[in-house]
Order: sequence, then C-alpha cells, then structure tokens
Amino acid sequence: MKSIKDHENLKFKIVLLRLDLNVPLKNGVITDETRINKIIPTLDFLLKKKTKILIVSHVGRPKGKINKDLSLKPVCENLEKKIKTKIKLLNENIFKVKKDDLFKGPNDKIIFFENIRFYTEEEKNELSFSKHLASFADLYINDAFSCSHRSHASVCKITEFLPSFAGLQFEAEIDALKKVTTEIKKPITCIIGGSKISTKIEIIKNLIPKFNSIIFVGGMANNILSFKGNRIGKSINEENCKDVIKEIFNISKNQICEIIYPEDVLIGKSMDGTAAIKNLKDVTDDDFILDVGPKTIEKIKHIIERSKTVLWNGPAGYFENPNFANGSFEIAKSIIKRNKNKSIYSVVGGGDTVAVINQLNAINDFNFVSTAGGAFLEYLEGKELPGIKALN
Ligand code: 3PG
Repeated sequence: MKSIKDHENLKFKIVLLRLDLNVPLKNGVITDETRINKIIPTLDFLLKKKTKILIVSHVGRPKGKINKDLSLKPVCENLEKKIKTKIKLLNENIFKVKKDDLFKGPNDKIIFFENIRFYTEEEKNELSFSKHLASFADLYINDAFSCSHRSHASVCKITEFLPSFAGLQFEAEIDALKKVTTEIKKPITCIIGGSKISTKIEIIKNLIPKFNSIIFVGGMANNILSFKGNRIGKSINEENCKDVIKEIFNISKNQICEIIYPEDVLIGKSMDGTAAIKNLKDVTDDDFILDVGPKTIEKIKHIIERSKTVLWNGPAGYFENPNFANGSFEIAKSIIKRNKNKSIYSVVGGGDTVAVINQLNAINDFNFVSTAGGAFLEYLEGKELPGIKALN
C-alpha cells in the first residue's frame, strides 16, 4: 500500500480525498465531532503541500436518493471553522460537473461534494461513476479506514482509474489494529453492541475462536434474547438471523468461548421516555429494551476485571437519551479504571462508541480509539477488506 507521505510531488495536484465524515446528526446538529477532528492532520498536510482537495464522503444511509436531512452541509461548515479555510460545498449533480468547473478561483483550495450516497452508483461500485469521479483529480487518497469494508465506488472501483494512496489516518488505524492482532494478551474479551445488527452478526462466528468471552449488549443483544425465547417487545432486532445465532452458540461450545448476554434490562415506553428496570420475564409487548440492567452491568464488570485485553464496539444502550446511557458509561468506566493502572490493553471502535467515551471526556483513557465500527470488526476477523485490497 502506498502512503501519501511518500508522494514526492504533490504541489498543485488535485487530490480526490475519500473521508468518512459519517458523524451522528440530530436535527442537523452534529452530536459527536471525533471523525472530523481526526482528519484535520491530513487536511493540514495536504494544504501545506499546496494540493487542491476534493472531499468525498457519505453520511447515513440515504440509499441513492437525495435526502436533505442527510446533507453534509453541517459537516462542511464545522470543518471550515476548524481549519479556518473556505470550503465550497458542491450541490450540483456530479454527472453534470466537469474538471474545468472546479477550482476556478485563485483561492479555491477545498471543494466538498454532497453526500456521495445520494447516487445509487456509489454502493453498486459502478464503473462509469467511478471513472467520472476519477476524471476530476490527479490522484486518489483513501483516508476513510472506517469505510474500507464497503465495496463502493469511492472506496474501491475508483482506484482502477487513479494513482491511489493511503491517507495518514488510514495508516494509523491499520498500524494500531496490526499491533492489537499480533501482540494480544489473553484472556481477551470482546463487547459488541450498537444497532447495526446486520453488519455485525455474520462476523461474530469468525471472531469466536479468537476470544475468551463475547459480550452482547445494545441492539445486538435483542436478537440473542429473542432467540433464547424472551419477549423483546418493540425493540430493534433483525429478521432471519436465527440460524446465525444458533451457529454462534454451537461454535462457542467447541471453542470454549463464553457468550454473555443481558440478564436484566432497562426498558422505556418510547425512545425519549424514562427508564424502568425489568427482569427478562417481565418485558411486555409495548416495551422498548433500551439499555442493560444493573445485574448485567455487574456481570460485565466482573469479566472486564479478569481480562487482559478488551475490544469494545457498539454502545450498550440508546445512550442518546441520558436515561439509557448508564450501561455504556459503566462499561467505559470499568475499562478506564483498569487502563489507568495499566492492567488491561483496551481498544474501542465505532462512531457511536467513540461518542459515548467523548461524553465522559475519556478519549485518552484507552490504548487505541478507532473511528471504525464494521471495518474494525471485519479487520479483527482476519478478512482482507475491499478498500485495503483496492489500495494494494
Ligand atoms: C461507519 O460508520 O461504520 C461507516 O461510515 C460505514 O457506514 P455504513 O455502515 O452505513 O456503511
């Protein structure tokens, strides 16, 4: 993989820079800025080298349709303030744009394309779309490690049409994850939560041989609870994953990997409601399971206490509502406690998980914080990620 740091002549080159600025947005307001903050060194580096920068990113899952709620405008404005450099957000249809239309003004340094997932061609890894995107630039940089598990046009196909390089953040993420996978100390625990169930559930069976304990929390746990015959009310879950879960339990028996899931939960009658503690048998059809309960927290703390390495991806509950943030906060605090006396190696990954630890102002209290969620897990699984393969 070629690094952008080794490129000898970047002056005046137009760089197509793929970033992952998929930040959490609530009513158009960014609720966690970590992914933006992390790529500032890359922008500073490129600006110092006097390149012209064309930023491509996605936010959310608009599924090929223009969706005003998923505009990158707030991200663009936030970034502009942070780097104190004017950024032009281009709303025009990409198919109508030509290279000569870009960077016309002498002070045009950064152009930001609107959400690339407004185009169906992006997720289809479409050839002519990739070729058209490539026609705007002289070289391509991928600084979106957290998207490298996606075979999408601006991550994969585009590399067939431009000299392609890994960005600074991309390299940092890979270096840290390589260290985790080669220097791991056992017992090792993986805590998996969050709501992107379909992205993660298939990965878990391949992770089992590598871990001593896998703890399911958050939306991920609902599927396990339902599989075990518990009522989960109106909570999020994924259809058609009974077979995978059966396999997860079968494989774990042979591999001596302990599978842990909630013993009690916090429920709400709505997402923005208040919390009530319930045992699993008391969950009713109009309940939303929105966090783990106190007995479960104690069990998780005990497992963290005896682990030498912990990897955590996905919050334990709907932390956006403070009534359901306790499980995630308690997990974070118990890892931090052990991290402070250097008795555990801790890696945290995923946009929402990073948002949780930011709320505790604890981003420096973990050994490594990855902005990647799905890509982080697939890398741990030992897969060659499509975005890495494309750069290679
Ligand atoms: C992420 O947040 O993990 C990346 O931005 C990828 O998003 P996706 O799961 O919607 O593809």
